[in-house]
Amino acid sequence: MNKNTFLSIVIAIVLFGSLSLTLAQDGWQPFTDEMLSGGTVKEVARDEGPLPAGCAAPAAKEHYVIGMSQANRAEPWREAMDSQVAAAAADYPEFEVVFQDAAQDNADQVSDVENLLTQGIDLLIISPNEAAPLNDVVRAAWESCIPVIVLDRNLVDPNYSMFIGADNVAIGQAAGEYAAQWCADNGRADCQVAEIRGLEGAPPAQDRGNGFRAGLEAGGLSEANIVFSQNADWLRERAVPAAAAAFQAQAELDVLYGHNDPMTEGAYIAGQDAGIDTSSVLFIGIDALPTPDGGIMSVLEGRLGVTFVYPTGGRQAIEWAHRILTEHVVPPGWVVLPFDTVAPDNAQDVCNSFNCPAAQ
Ligand code: FRU
Repeated sequence: MNKNTFLSIVIAIVLFGSLSLTLAQDGWQPFTDEMLSGGTVKEVARDEGPLPAGCAAPAAKEHYVIGMSQANRAEPWREAMDSQVAAAAADYPEFEVVFQDAAQDNADQVSDVENLLTQGIDLLIISPNEAAPLNDVVRAAWESCIPVIVLDRNLVDPNYSMFIGADNVAIGQAAGEYAAQWCADNGRADCQVAEIRGLEGAPPAQDRGNGFRAGLEAGGLSEANIVFSQNADWLRERAVPAAAAAFQAQAELDVLYGHNDPMTEGAYIAGQDAGIDTSSVLFIGIDALPTPDGGIMSVLEGRLGVTFVYPTGGRQAIEWAHRILTEHVVPPGWVVLPFDTVAPDNAQDVCNSFNCPAAQ
């Protein structure tokens, strides 16, 4: 082999090597609309893909470990989210999901994520307890080239691959408009509203509160109609004393708006304990789980006046995880899931479609 032939071979090998490296790095595919399965795109795909610039696309493997960091599995809606993650993952034999439960403790959730990273995961799914305390550990995971899917409660900064969740401002607004209409229809001219709020550092609490106020205004009322507002951290047992205080302060309440169904159910109990005629109060919740003690049954049984189906996104998270890891699809930065209103006039239909316990 003469010197020139040898040099050409070396150059060819180097060029081929760097070409395949570039292909591996750039080997991401755009997502398609069918992948959204009913959701809408709020933020488009990032130019650099689902990982920070400089991270290689995930390597092909026979077995992938997904870390699932849950804020508080003791809450029924979060139990449903974990079950949906598990059921969806069962469709992919190459997926193993390791679940962590932070029991509503931010510091525990930070160490849950750190433990998952130490253990070695291929992708992280997280539903953060509160935004600010979980921000840095998620950034650290993502910057170490682990794809991260954030569910339902957003963080402060978008240092992750994608966010999946329903639009809590829109849900709050629908609740506010429903409340205003109900008061108008029932001759409650000075419509007195009490609000039981979710954990303050969780963005859905802010969004559900702000959206509700916008909805009241759209319906001809105002923030001044909210005569009582207290936090019960999403928890039924904390909502009982909070609502008891509301009924004590305002015996003539027209509307009780809880940021989730468990808190509104707690408020209903407080109303009964206070000797209030609960049938004269509109109890509004959010979640509408299709379980025996979930919101759909509660509307059918006449406790909740209205609630809203708040999808957990558990199945979508696993499907996007599969696409990111095995098909190298670049997901949208933010996918918004649709929600539904569950009121007495459609509760049976919703129950039938979700096969809830009273399905006919
Ligand atoms: C459970 C929960 C749900 C609620 C969601 C908001 O922790 O409070 O009831 O819809 O979180 O993030």
